[in-house]
Amino acid sequence: MTSVSVRDRASTPRHYLMCRPSHFDVNYAINPWMDPAKPVDTALAVLQWETLYDLYRSLGHTVDLLEPVPGLPDMVFSANGATVVDGLVLGARFLNSERAAEAPAHAAWFRAHGYEVHVPQYVNEGEGDFAVTDSWILAGRGFRCTPEGHQEAQEFFGRPVISLELTDPRFYHLDTALAVLDGDEVMYYPEAFTPGSRAVLARLFPDALLVSKDDADVLGLNAVSDGLNVVLPEAAVKLAGDLRDRGYKPFPMDLSELLKGGGSVKCCTQELRP
Ligand code: ARG
Repeated sequence: MTSVSVRDRASTPRHYLMCRPSHFDVNYAINPWMDPAKPVDTALAVLQWETLYDLYRSLGHTVDLLEPVPGLPDMVFSANGATVVDGLVLGARFLNSERAAEAPAHAAWFRAHGYEVHVPQYVNEGEGDFAVTDSWILAGRGFRCTPEGHQEAQEFFGRPVISLELTDPRFYHLDTALAVLDGDEVMYYPEAFTPGSRAVLARLFPDALLVSKDDADVLGLNAVSDGLNVVLPEAAVKLAGDLRDRGYKPFPMDLSELLKGGGSVKCCTQELRP
């Protein structure tokens, strides 16, 4: 057991937006996980993704689907296409041209479903670099999103945005290095952040679950929590035990094909917050 007191956990129903990996492939490399020389089994990626989709529905969550677009192999990583907080939609603006067309595809989905979309002026890759807690929006920078993108999010949402600097290219998005578990409770891999940003995290989250290198290296932090159930990559074995000790219910998933694109559970899951 950890020294943190275990309280009763409860899940709340969530609304997610996902995109079937029908056109998933690795034919360019924009992060160190991607190697276009390695073969990708798209059919297996679809099967693994369907297990995740089915799990969310069995846990009582609503999952909407975005139509996959041929020629956009990373579109399965739907978390990157927008950020939705308080029902407000901040669109994405991708750093890499290979993914640029995903932003208007997301925006079109939101407009068709009655949302207004704020089209951003600065680079932000949606929930890849924005994590929402009760009190703050945590924001990653260093690889994709810029400080200007953080300011734009703060002005748009009217919530305090905490800007955090990432240092390790393997942890190129905030959601590869940190995950929100519940309220203002987070877990993170300290070594992915600069000393200053690490100090900020320690000050804001003194009871955070600190994750080991072994668990972080298999993208264990790319996880989704509903306040009780935590869906995470199955290779993060120790992390699953740590979560259990804190009163969470881990759901280990095999998304090994999608890992070849540098993403896992959270990357495939955009949360629409009412
Ligand atoms: N290949 C994608 C990229 O590098 C992976 C994105 C993963 N998504 C995420 N939310 N971290 O942009």
